[in-house]
Order: sequence, then C-alpha cells, then structure tokens
Amino acid sequence: MNQLSLYPEAVSFVNRRTSDVTFKGKMGLPIHRWYRLTPSFSPQLALDIAGYFGITPDDFVLDPFSGVGTVPLCMKYRGVPACSIELNPYLHFVGTVKTRTYADLPDIRELFDSLSDASA
Ligand SMILES: C[S@@+](CC[C@H](N)C(=O)[O-])C[C@H]1O[C@@H](n2cnc3c(N)ncnc32)[C@H](O)[C@@H]1O
Repeated sequence: MNQLSLYPEAVSFVNRRTSDVTFKGKMGLPIHRWYRLTPSFSPQLALDIAGYFGITPDDFVLDPFSGVGTVPLCMKYRGVPACSIELNPYLHFVGTVKTRTYADLPDIRELFDSLSDASA
C-alpha cells in the first residue's frame, strides 16, 4: 500500500539542539520570549520547515494550532502572510498581542514628548 507522504523525500530533524526545537529557542528572542509556553516549539523549527518548503511572501501560511503564535510571528518577520487558529482564548490573546504591529520607538518617544509638553 502506498503511504501518503507530506515530504517528497525524507527530512531529518534529528541531532538538533534542544533550543532549536523546543520553547527554549525563543527565550532569548524579542517578542517570542514574551510568554513561555512549554509545549510551544522554537522559531528555528518554524523557519527550518518554512525553508524546507521554500515559503516566500507569495505564499500564505495557516497554523491551525497556533499556541502562542510562534509560526505567525515567524512569518510576519519574513513578510509572509499568515493566519492562525487557537482554541484557548488566553493563548489566542497572547498570539494576537505578539503579532500586532507596534509603533517604532521614535514614534513612541515623540508621543511621550508631546504628552509631557501638553501637561507642562
Ligand atoms: C502544542 S500547542 C501549539 C504550540 C505552537 N506551535 C507554538 O509554538 O506556540 C497546540 C495548541 O493547539 C491548540 N488546540 C487544540 N485543539 C485545537 C482546536 N481544535 N482548534 C484550535 N486549536 C486547538 C491548543 O490549545 C494548543 O495551544
């Protein structure tokens, strides 16, 4: 019987450092580290799989079990459109906050300066 295979050839993800695969790989990274979810995987793993499939900004990525948003955040950094689904409302909130687009620091500084000017 033929087996349906997701990969056209064997992929090896063996002999990898723990931090390349598990949540430990995100603990030193901005935004990724905002919330520690032990069953989440490392951004490196998401990027390796995206690299394996040759994902580009012309593609669209769906993560149906997105946890704390590791995959959508990695795709955002790569400019790849993505959407995700997460059953747990709290984790959904975490993923939403992590993938939001934030103002640049100079914009934030300007806002604070204008507020302090207004209150003077
Ligand atoms: C192992 S975690 C995924 C972690 C994710 N890859 C990350 O790095 O954060 C699996 C997630 O799937 C979610 N989940 C389970 N069943 C689901 C369903 N039917 N629909 C959407 N999400 C579901 C769980 O709440 C859990 O957060």
